[in-house]
Amino acid sequence: DWTTGNVIEEQVAAIREQVGDKRAICGLSGGVDSAVAAALVQKAIGSQLTCVYVDHGLMRKGETEQVEKDFVAATGVQLKVVDAEERFLKALAGVSDPEEKRKIIGREFIRVFEQAQLEIMQEAGPEVAFLVQGTLYPDVVESGGGTGTANIKSHHNVGGLPDDIEFELVEPLRQLFKDEVRMVGQELGLPDEIVQRQPFPGPGLGIRIVGEVTKERLDLLREADAIAREELTAAGLDRDIWQCPVVLLADVRSVGVQGDGRTYGHPVVLRPVSSEDAMTADWSRLPYDVLARISTRITNEVKDVNRVVLDVTSKPPGTIEWE
Ligand code: XMP
Repeated sequence: DWTTGNVIEEQVAAIREQVGDKRAICGLSGGVDSAVAAALVQKAIGSQLTCVYVDHGLMRKGETEQVEKDFVAATGVQLKVVDAEERFLKALAGVSDPEEKRKIIGREFIRVFEQAQLEIMQEAGPEVAFLVQGTLYPDVVESGGGTGTANIKSHHNVGGLPDDIEFELVEPLRQLFKDEVRMVGQELGLPDEIVQRQPFPGPGLGIRIVGEVTKERLDLLREADAIAREELTAAGLDRDIWQCPVVLLADVRSVGVQGDGRTYGHPVVLRPVSSEDAMTADWSRLPYDVLARISTRITNEVKDVNRVVLDVTSKPPGTIEWE
């Protein structure tokens, strides 16, 4: 009999059996899967788990606080937050090419995460032997089904650890689909803002700024994105759309007028899409009054943005994200 209660009970028992009295580490991304995986493992082994959250400075407004405060409050998990904003901004300085940005963000992420793992191991010792991952059933099928291990190299920069550390993977969501993961998360008491989260790319807002990524541009985009999300939520449209990226065209300027002055600001693009699995998508026919509210608020409230445009391209030929 499939119930979320049964799934939780079964997984808690399996995790306890697998981990024993050793310790585990889990990376939190702010997304649903890692949050639910961590909450399950926390329920099973409590303080034997440490979570790591890398704040790369590319998150949307309020997302880091959701992890730092709401997730911790809901689960009681031990959390190590690494503030790596400056490091990421430095690495991204001067870079406009989308693939280059993705590579840099991915590389820095792994470096920061591994460093945090090593620090935890240094404090807690070699009994840290497990790495929790939010792998879902569709990921398992896609990759051929094996379970595995993960390696990190210590690069001789911390004392007392072997050069090459191997973790065994704990993957408590391997039998679940996304909607089941959300139900389990809800049953575990996670906040709705995390459990009902729409998809958000790992490289974050870094790939929603067309052009170079800077702190100022990120702050602009964060404001515009927050307004769009607020209005879509207020209109009750969260469940109807798959996601709605807001993209800042940072290298484009256009002339506008506001008050009695000419403006020369940036456009933002709204990219609302409907989809089943993100492989294909259609642009969402949002009500005009909702679009109007979003546009009015963004151009009034976000300094330097003087135009809001709507992306009416399906996928294919357009991808959902712009980079
Ligand atoms: P595209 O732009 O390829 O996006 O149509 C399809 C879906 O994947 C998300 N996306 C990502 N998710 N890491 C992620 O975890 C990434 O690098 C990444 N790039 C795109 C995108 O938001 C959409 O839901």
